Amino acid sequence: MTASTELAPADGVPAVLRPHAEVAFAAELEALEAFDAEEGRPRPPRWRLSPWSVVTYLVGGTLADGTVVSAKYIGSRRLMEVAVATLTTDRALLLLGLPGTAKSWVSEHLAAAVSGDSTLLVQGTSGTAEESIRYGWNYARLLAEGPTPEALVPSPVMVGMERGALTRVEELTRIPSDVQDALITVLSEKVLPVPELGREVAARPGFNVIATANDRDKGVNDLSSALRRRFNTVVLPLPTDVEDEVRIVTTRVADLTASLSLPPVSTAAEEIERVVTVFRELRAGVTADGRTAVRSPTATLSAAEAISVVTNGIALAAHFGDGVLRPADVASGIVGAVVKDPVADAQAWQEYLDVVVRERPGWGAFYEACRDST
Ligand SMILES: Nc1ncnc2c1ncn2[C@@H]1O[C@H](COP(=O)(O)OP(=O)(O)OP(=O)(O)O)[C@@H](O)[C@H]1O
Ligand SMILES: [Mg+2]
Repeated sequence: MTASTELAPADGVPAVLRPHAEVAFAAELEALEAFDAEEGRPRPPRWRLSPWSVVTYLVGGTLADGTVVSAKYIGSRRLMEVAVATLTTDRALLLLGLPGTAKSWVSEHLAAAVSGDSTLLVQGTSGTAEESIRYGWNYARLLAEGPTPEALVPSPVMVGMERGALTRVEELTRIPSDVQDALITVLSEKVLPVPELGREVAARPGFNVIATANDRDKGVNDLSSALRRRFNTVVLPLPTDVEDEVRIVTTRVADLTASLSLPPVSTAAEEIERVVTVFRELRAGVTADGRTAVRSPTATLSAAEAISVVTNGIALAAHFGDGVLRPADVASGIVGAVVKDPVADAQAWQEYLDVVVRERPGWGAFYEACRDST
């Protein structure tokens, strides 16, 4: 193993802050691979696992031999089945949803489970150029040798086609429309012409594309209908109930604090539930009991924000507190996450504090802590 993929060297400090999914979960992937072989489950060409095992890798489960597969995606199994089934067809997969609904997370784990490699990635931005989807040139070599195969710099899409592997396109709708259109030929013809070399790259079986796009970005660079037709869309929803969301935050916070080697902090459960409740109520515009309307702030308040508020709180408690996560440790993080607009959001937050938080039994210390950090 090279230094960049090594997971846990002798001194217990991880070699990298965030290993790729196929490295972090190598043992689970191997167990599922063995299980597929035993059961004789069919695998699509060049897939590392059977579709059944890919879904089990995503949503978790216990195998016949007792191996426990952790849940990466917490939510509907059916949704993951639809996503995985799409990847076995000639249509690409578009994961759509609000910010923080695990689109990138699911896309990474899908690529790891299907192709054993989640690194073929195009990060979509307004500056993404056609080279990132087709190919570019090493200009020094191009000038010296002219267009040769050695001077060509393939895009992750081209590499995925050659290898028969999944390629990920993050934030598809941020990519300028004319650049997006370069994907149309790839997805419909499954070839990438290289006129300079008088050849084309034909996709091998196993190649497909997983794109992610954000609901909120609608209109930034809308998908053309020609491109949209080449995708099956799976919409990832916000967690339905508070228990699911607490589970998401608890699991991810545990992973993160371990990889950051933060000292242990106890009894985080109560504070996690509180953060999740606050975010859900503000998002929904009504309290959990459905009785009191509250104003929603402009900020995105997803599980992803809750994860970072709790992780920050744990860092505060570990280094500056007494090793116990207290309301004051999460309060400043919550205020920072909620109040993005200094006027409108600050008012909405103040109202929520006065009308909801102050009156809620057991929330006194949290109320004081929030008031002090506003
Ligand atoms: N249903 C879920 N199951 C498991 N983890 C989740 C779920 N929803 C959110 N998360 C966690 O939230 C974090 C953020 O997810 P991610 O970055 O994939 O969101 P995204 O949908 O790509 O957001 P953006 O639109 O901002 O790119 C991840 O750490 C992920 O583990
Ligand atoms: Mg994302």
